[in-house]
Amino acid sequence: MPEATCSGRVGRSARRRGYLMCRPTFFAVEYSINQWMDPAVAVDTGLAVRQWEVLRATLLSLGHTVELVEPVPGLPDMVFAANGATVVDGRVLVANFRHRERDAESAAYAAWFRTHGYAEVQRAEQVNEGEGDHLVARGHILAANGFRTERSSYAQTEAYLLRRVLGLTLVDPRFYHLDTALSVLDDEQIMYFPGAFSPNSLALLEQLFPDAILAEESDAAALGLNAISDGRHVLLPAEASGLAARLAQAGYEPIGIELGELRKGGGGPKCCVLELRRNVVDGAANRAAAYARRTRTAARSTRTSDVGA
Ligand code: ARG
Repeated sequence: MPEATCSGRVGRSARRRGYLMCRPTFFAVEYSINQWMDPAVAVDTGLAVRQWEVLRATLLSLGHTVELVEPVPGLPDMVFAANGATVVDGRVLVANFRHRERDAESAAYAAWFRTHGYAEVQRAEQVNEGEGDHLVARGHILAANGFRTERSSYAQTEAYLLRRVLGLTLVDPRFYHLDTALSVLDDEQIMYFPGAFSPNSLALLEQLFPDAILAEESDAAALGLNAISDGRHVLLPAEASGLAARLAQAGYEPIGIELGELRKGGGGPKCCVLELRRNVVDGAANRAAAYARRTRTAARSTRTSDVGA
């Protein structure tokens, strides 16, 4: 929650988070499943690991917890842990990838959750790329469609994670996952690049988040929206300097992160972390129960609020 400080500036407070990460030991660009990936461009895996270690150390220095899932040889994109699952109130919805190249990651992530104390683990039945396409804000789940996650997956997401799903359609292939186009800064505040969304989705964002921070195209194109926020510190690609200035103006502490090698795979800081929302917090249990009651009444005709294009 923002608080006014004596200087009149808005002070922001951080909340400790738990993240799951995967060291990019086997990172490579061997295929192309997004516009950023060019197998002809050389990748320095050692440098990717060193850059990733700085990201991990930065999160630890801010007081967050980082758990690690073992990287699997032959799965070069497994470093992008955000895609492994969506974890809300301790419930884990494991990804179902669009491309066969990433398919085997689902089993690796599911196994990690099952062996680390998560009792509720379910695999998505339709294409669903985890937290890459599902962000939690205002108690709802903002879910993308257009490039990866299918709208047809929303019904399971709502029923299993017990949160309302608001569908958002992505239209620019540079921003193929929701977390490349929009970032949740705290429970109420987001930042996004308007050009990444369909007109109807944009109208929904404007209505829900009238005070959102808007990114310029140049910052978005530097993957500036692929940011990790704890409510106060915002870790974003170092190149997104315009966005960093806007964040500072709004009372956040931007921290530039250099992840040039992983960007060759189409990812930035946020893609490398999966937030482990282990606990039911902030009245979420009551909200979820009330929501479950409502949807049971509205029953079989459960409708996700997908605004489409
Ligand atoms: N090469 C990966 C893919 O195309 C990059 C994933 C980035 N992850 C993310 N959460 N945006 O699937």
